Amino acid sequence: MKFEEKTFVLKNGQQALLRQLQPTDAEKMLEFLRETSRESDFLLRYPEENIMGISEEVQFLEGICQSDNKIMLACVIDGSVAGNTSLRGNDFRKLRHRGEVSLGVRKAYWHLGIGRAMLTEAVALARNLGLQYLELDYIDGNARAKGLYESLGFREIARIPQAYRQPDGTMADSVLMRKCL
Ligand SMILES: CC(C)(COP(=O)(O)OP(=O)(O)OC[C@H]1O[C@@H](n2cnc3c(N)ncnc32)[C@H](O)[C@@H]1OP(=O)(O)O)[C@@H](O)C(=O)NCCC(=O)NCCS
Repeated sequence: MKFEEKTFVLKNGQQALLRQLQPTDAEKMLEFLRETSRESDFLLRYPEENIMGISEEVQFLEGICQSDNKIMLACVIDGSVAGNTSLRGNDFRKLRHRGEVSLGVRKAYWHLGIGRAMLTEAVALARNLGLQYLELDYIDGNARAKGLYESLGFREIARIPQAYRQPDGTMADSVLMRKCL
Protein backbone atom coordinates (compact mmCIF):
# COMPACT_ATOMS: atom_id res chain seq x y z
CA MET A 1 0.00 0.00 0.00
CA LYS A 2 1.14 3.52 -0.65
CA PHE A 3 0.95 6.39 1.81
CA GLU A 4 1.74 10.04 1.06
CA GLU A 5 3.85 11.24 3.96
CA LYS A 6 2.47 14.16 5.94
CA THR A 7 3.52 16.41 8.78
CA PHE A 8 1.45 17.50 11.75
CA VAL A 9 2.02 19.51 14.91
CA LEU A 10 1.99 17.83 18.33
CA LYS A 11 0.18 19.32 21.33
CA ASN A 12 3.56 20.65 22.56
CA GLY A 13 4.19 22.46 19.27
CA GLN A 14 6.79 19.99 17.93
CA GLN A 15 6.66 18.94 14.27
CA ALA A 16 6.00 15.27 13.55
CA LEU A 17 6.19 13.33 10.31
CA LEU A 18 3.91 10.41 9.46
CA ARG A 19 5.42 8.13 6.85
CA GLN A 20 5.51 4.55 5.69
CA LEU A 21 8.20 2.37 7.30
CA GLN A 22 10.81 1.16 4.82
CA PRO A 23 13.22 -1.82 5.02
CA THR A 24 15.99 0.73 5.73
CA ASP A 25 14.17 1.54 8.99
CA ALA A 26 14.70 -2.02 10.32
CA GLU A 27 17.28 -1.13 12.97
CA LYS A 28 15.33 1.91 14.20
CA MET A 29 12.18 -0.18 14.36
CA LEU A 30 13.76 -2.99 16.42
CA GLU A 31 15.06 -0.39 18.86
CA PHE A 32 11.59 1.16 19.02
CA LEU A 33 9.98 -2.22 19.78
CA ARG A 34 12.49 -3.00 22.54
CA GLU A 35 12.00 0.42 24.13
CA THR A 36 8.19 0.44 23.99
CA SER A 37 7.95 -3.03 25.51
CA ARG A 38 10.26 -1.85 28.32
CA GLU A 39 8.03 1.17 28.95
CA SER A 40 4.59 -0.47 29.11
CA ASP A 41 3.00 -3.64 30.49
CA PHE A 42 0.16 -3.19 27.98
CA LEU A 43 2.14 -4.61 25.06
CA LEU A 44 2.39 -8.34 24.37
CA ARG A 45 6.13 -8.85 24.64
CA TYR A 46 8.75 -8.40 27.31
CA PRO A 47 11.79 -6.52 25.92
CA GLU A 48 13.88 -9.70 25.63
CA GLU A 49 11.09 -11.40 23.66
CA ASN A 50 11.66 -9.05 20.70
CA ILE A 51 13.99 -11.56 19.12
CA MET A 52 13.78 -10.63 15.46
CA GLY A 53 17.21 -9.86 13.95
CA ILE A 54 17.95 -7.06 11.48
CA SER A 55 17.78 -9.22 8.37
CA GLU A 56 14.44 -10.74 9.43
CA GLU A 57 13.06 -7.27 10.13
CA VAL A 58 14.30 -6.04 6.72
CA GLN A 59 12.53 -8.99 5.07
CA PHE A 60 9.40 -8.36 7.10
CA LEU A 61 9.28 -4.68 6.12
CA GLU A 62 9.97 -5.54 2.46
CA GLY A 63 6.97 -7.86 2.53
CA ILE A 64 4.76 -5.16 4.06
CA CYS A 65 5.90 -2.55 1.50
CA GLN A 66 5.03 -4.93 -1.36
CA SER A 67 1.65 -5.85 0.11
CA ASP A 68 -1.51 -4.26 -1.25
CA ASN A 69 -3.50 -4.64 2.00
CA LYS A 70 -0.95 -4.08 4.78
CA ILE A 71 1.01 -1.06 5.89
CA MET A 72 3.23 0.09 8.76
CA LEU A 73 3.37 3.79 9.52
CA ALA A 74 5.90 5.55 11.69
CA CYS A 75 5.57 8.84 13.46
CA VAL A 76 9.04 10.32 13.25
CA ILE A 77 10.27 13.16 15.45
CA ASP A 78 13.77 14.58 15.03
CA GLY A 79 14.73 11.50 13.02
CA SER A 80 13.60 8.97 15.68
CA VAL A 81 10.59 6.68 15.62
CA ALA A 82 8.22 8.02 18.30
CA GLY A 83 5.20 5.94 17.32
CA ASN A 84 4.14 3.14 15.04
CA THR A 85 0.88 1.75 13.72
CA SER A 86 0.27 -1.38 11.72
CA LEU A 87 -2.79 -1.96 9.54
CA ARG A 88 -3.37 -5.47 8.28
CA GLY A 89 -6.04 -6.53 5.84
CA ASN A 90 -6.77 -10.25 5.60
CA ASP A 91 -5.67 -12.38 2.65
CA PHE A 92 -8.30 -15.11 2.89
CA ARG A 93 -11.44 -14.23 0.92
CA LYS A 94 -13.81 -15.12 3.76
CA LEU A 95 -12.01 -12.59 5.97
CA ARG A 96 -11.35 -9.82 3.48
CA HIS A 97 -14.06 -7.55 4.89
CA ARG A 98 -12.14 -7.32 8.17
CA GLY A 99 -8.81 -5.72 9.07
CA GLU A 100 -6.72 -5.29 12.21
CA VAL A 101 -4.83 -2.34 13.56
CA SER A 102 -2.33 -1.95 16.41
CA LEU A 103 -0.26 0.93 17.69
CA GLY A 104 2.36 2.03 20.16
CA VAL A 105 3.98 5.31 21.16
CA ARG A 106 7.25 5.94 23.06
CA LYS A 107 6.42 7.00 26.61
CA ALA A 108 8.22 10.35 26.24
CA TYR A 109 5.62 11.24 23.59
CA TRP A 110 2.40 10.05 25.23
CA HIS A 111 -0.52 12.51 25.46
CA LEU A 112 0.69 14.60 22.52
CA GLY A 113 -1.81 13.40 19.91
CA ILE A 114 0.39 10.83 18.12
CA GLY A 115 -1.85 7.85 18.85
CA ARG A 116 -4.89 9.75 17.64
CA ALA A 117 -3.13 10.95 14.46
CA MET A 118 -1.87 7.47 13.57
CA LEU A 119 -5.15 5.69 14.27
CA THR A 120 -7.09 8.31 12.28
CA GLU A 121 -4.82 7.62 9.28
CA ALA A 122 -5.21 3.86 9.73
CA VAL A 123 -9.01 4.22 9.70
CA ALA A 124 -8.84 6.27 6.48
CA LEU A 125 -6.54 3.69 4.85
CA ALA A 126 -8.86 0.86 5.95
CA ARG A 127 -11.79 2.69 4.34
CA ASN A 128 -9.78 3.10 1.13
CA LEU A 129 -9.15 -0.64 1.15
CA GLY A 130 -12.92 -1.15 1.21
CA LEU A 131 -12.91 -2.93 4.59
CA GLN A 132 -16.22 -3.23 6.42
CA TYR A 133 -14.76 -3.65 9.92
CA LEU A 134 -11.55 -2.51 11.56
CA GLU A 135 -10.65 -4.41 14.72
CA LEU A 136 -8.11 -4.19 17.52
CA ASP A 137 -7.57 -5.59 20.96
CA TYR A 138 -6.12 -4.23 24.15
CA ILE A 139 -5.22 -5.56 27.58
CA ASP A 140 -7.97 -4.78 30.07
CA GLY A 141 -6.92 -1.93 32.34
CA ASN A 142 -5.30 0.11 29.58
CA ALA A 143 -7.51 3.15 30.17
CA ARG A 144 -5.56 5.43 27.83
CA ALA A 145 -5.87 3.04 24.90
CA LYS A 146 -9.55 2.35 25.65
CA GLY A 147 -10.31 6.10 25.82
CA LEU A 148 -8.53 6.75 22.54
CA TYR A 149 -10.22 3.85 20.74
CA GLU A 150 -13.71 4.75 22.02
CA SER A 151 -13.25 8.39 21.02
CA LEU A 152 -12.58 7.24 17.46
CA GLY A 153 -15.69 5.05 17.31
CA PHE A 154 -14.36 1.60 18.30
CA ARG A 155 -16.71 -0.43 20.49
CA GLU A 156 -16.12 -3.57 22.58
CA ILE A 157 -17.47 -6.70 20.89
CA ALA A 158 -15.87 -9.54 22.84
CA ARG A 159 -13.43 -10.51 25.56
CA ILE A 160 -11.12 -13.41 26.25
CA PRO A 161 -11.16 -13.76 30.03
CA GLN A 162 -7.76 -13.92 31.73
CA ALA A 163 -5.93 -13.84 28.41
CA TYR A 164 -2.81 -12.24 29.87
CA ARG A 165 -0.75 -12.84 32.99
CA GLN A 166 0.86 -9.56 33.96
CA PRO A 167 4.35 -9.27 35.56
CA ASP A 168 2.82 -8.93 39.06
CA GLY A 169 0.90 -12.20 38.55
CA THR A 170 -2.53 -10.64 38.07
CA MET A 171 -4.62 -11.80 35.13
CA ALA A 172 -6.18 -9.47 32.57
CA ASP A 173 -8.78 -9.96 29.85
CA SER A 174 -8.12 -9.33 26.19
CA VAL A 175 -10.73 -6.85 24.98
CA LEU A 176 -11.65 -6.98 21.28
CA MET A 177 -13.01 -3.80 19.75
CA ARG A 178 -14.45 -3.10 16.33
CA LYS A 179 -15.23 -0.03 14.27
CA CYS A 180 -17.76 -0.22 11.46
CA LEU A 181 -16.30 1.68 8.51
C1 LIG B 1 -2.24 3.99 24.09
C2 LIG B 1 -1.32 4.91 23.29
C3 LIG B 1 -1.10 4.31 21.90
C4 LIG B 1 -1.95 6.29 23.18
O1 LIG B 1 -1.10 7.10 22.42
P1 LIG B 1 -0.97 8.67 22.70
O2 LIG B 1 -0.12 9.22 21.62
O3 LIG B 1 -0.53 8.89 24.10
O4 LIG B 1 -2.47 9.10 22.53
P2 LIG B 1 -3.06 10.53 22.14
O5 LIG B 1 -2.28 11.60 22.85
O6 LIG B 1 -3.18 10.65 20.68
O7 LIG B 1 -4.55 10.43 22.67
C5 LIG B 1 -4.77 9.97 23.91
C6 LIG B 1 -6.28 9.90 24.03
O8 LIG B 1 -6.53 8.85 24.93
C7 LIG B 1 -7.58 9.23 25.78
N1 LIG B 1 -7.03 9.18 27.13
C8 LIG B 1 -5.81 9.54 27.58
N2 LIG B 1 -5.67 9.25 28.86
C9 LIG B 1 -6.82 8.68 29.24
C10 LIG B 1 -7.30 8.14 30.45
N3 LIG B 1 -6.54 8.14 31.55
N4 LIG B 1 -8.54 7.62 30.45
C11 LIG B 1 -9.31 7.62 29.36
N5 LIG B 1 -8.90 8.12 28.18
C12 LIG B 1 -7.68 8.64 28.13
C13 LIG B 1 -8.07 10.56 25.37
O9 LIG B 1 -9.15 10.34 24.48
C14 LIG B 1 -6.89 11.14 24.59
O10 LIG B 1 -7.26 11.95 23.56
P3 LIG B 1 -7.39 13.56 23.77
O11 LIG B 1 -6.18 13.97 24.56
O12 LIG B 1 -7.38 14.08 22.37
O13 LIG B 1 -8.68 13.74 24.49
C15 LIG B 1 0.05 5.08 24.03
O14 LIG B 1 -0.20 5.56 25.32
C16 LIG B 1 0.89 3.83 24.12
O15 LIG B 1 1.58 3.47 23.18
N6 LIG B 1 0.84 3.16 25.28
C17 LIG B 1 1.68 1.98 25.54
C18 LIG B 1 1.42 0.86 24.58
C19 LIG B 1 -0.04 0.61 24.37
O16 LIG B 1 -0.81 0.61 25.30
N7 LIG B 1 -0.40 0.39 23.11
C20 LIG B 1 -1.76 0.07 22.77
C21 LIG B 1 -1.91 -1.39 22.88
S1 LIG B 1 -3.56 -1.86 22.56
